[in-house]
Amino acid sequence: MKAIVVTDEAAGTAGMKLVERPDPPAAINDVIVQVHASGFVPTEMEWPSTWKDRLGRDRTPSIPGHELAGVVTALGYGTTGVSVGQRVLGLADWHRDGTLAEYVAIEARNLAPLPGDVDFTVGASLPISGLTAWQGLFDHGRLKAGQSVLAHGAAGAVGTMVTQLAREAGAYIIGTGRAADRQKALDFGANEFVDLANDALEDVGGVDLAFDVIGGDIQKRSASLIRPGGTLVTVVGPPEARPADGLAIDFVVESDRGQLSEIVQRVRDGRLRTNIGTVATLDDAVAALNPTERLKGKSIIRLRP
Ligand SMILES: NC(=O)c1ccc[n+]([C@@H]2O[C@H](COP(=O)([O-])OP(=O)(O)OC[C@H]3O[C@@H](n4cnc5c(N)ncnc54)[C@H](OP(=O)(O)O)[C@@H]3O)[C@@H](O)[C@H]2O)c1
Repeated sequence: MKAIVVTDEAAGTAGMKLVERPDPPAAINDVIVQVHASGFVPTEMEWPSTWKDRLGRDRTPSIPGHELAGVVTALGYGTTGVSVGQRVLGLADWHRDGTLAEYVAIEARNLAPLPGDVDFTVGASLPISGLTAWQGLFDHGRLKAGQSVLAHGAAGAVGTMVTQLAREAGAYIIGTGRAADRQKALDFGANEFVDLANDALEDVGGVDLAFDVIGGDIQKRSASLIRPGGTLVTVVGPPEARPADGLAIDFVVESDRGQLSEIVQRVRDGRLRTNIGTVATLDDAVAALNPTERLKGKSIIRLRP
C-alpha cells in the first residue's frame, strides 16, 4: 500500500515521505479499514508516541495520522461490533501506525459507524477535535446550562467544536484568539470575542470553565478568572496554574464510540459544523502538510475520490 512515513524526529513534517509499505495485518479485535480520508494534527510530530512504542523502543518508520473515515475491508480474530463493507470513522491508537495510508489496522472499539450521508472528508475531521471538545466540556469540565465558558483558540479546530457544543448545552461562550479570527469565532457561535493581543483578558470577569488550547501565560491568566467551584481544562500538557478555588485538569483525548456517534449525529442534523482548512490527495500530502503559511482549520488528506 501507499503510505506517508516519518523516520526523523528532528525533521518533523519536513521528513515525511510517500513510500510503499506492507498492508497491515489484523490482530485480535482489529479491523482493517480502507482509508478514504485521514485527519492530521501538526503537533503529532512532537508526541513521543509518534517515535516510540509503549516500551520506549524506536518504532520508526512510523505512519502518522490518527483520524480516519473509511470502509471496513477485514476483521481480525474475535472482532465484533463492525462489519465488512461498513462505513466508519475513528481515532487510531497513538502508538500504532496511523491513517496517512491506504489501509490501517485499528481496534474495533476505536471506531463508530459513519452514516451514508456524511462525507468521508467531514468524517475524518471530527474524531480528535470533536472528542477533545466533548470530553473537556462534559466529562472533565462538568459543564451545565447557564454557565460561562472561556474558549481559547475559538477559531481553531478544537475551539470551534468547544464553542458549538458548549453553546448547544446552554452555556455563554467567550471565544478568544487573534484579531483576524474574531468573525470566524462569532460565526461558530461565540457570544463575544477577546483578541488576546489587543484586548484585556481580565475584562471578561469570572467564568465557570476555561478551555485552554494555548498554555503558558494565557493559561495562567485564565486560571485566575475561574469562579469558585469552576474548572480550568487544558489539552496542552500539565497545568502550570490552578484556580484559587476550583479544579485544573489536563487530559489526552480518548476513543469513545458513543460520543463519536453523538458528534456525527449533530453534524447530520446541522447542529455542528466542522472546520476544515486544507484538503489534499495522498500524492500531494507531503507538500500540503508542509505549507509555507500557517494552516487554518483541520488538514484532511483524501485517499480515495
Ligand atoms: N490533549 C489532547 O488530547 C489534544 C487534543 C487535540 C488538540 N490538542 C492540542 O491543542 C492545541 C490546539 O489544537 P487545534 O487542533 O485546535 O489547533 P488549531 O486549529 O491551530 O487551533 C488553535 C487556535 O488557537 C489560536 N492561537 C494559538 N496561540 C495563540 C495565541 N498566543 N494568541 C491567540 N491565538 C492563538 C490559533 O491561531 P493561529 O492559527 O493564528 O496561531 C488557532 O486559531 C494543539 O496544541 C494540539 O496539539 C490536544
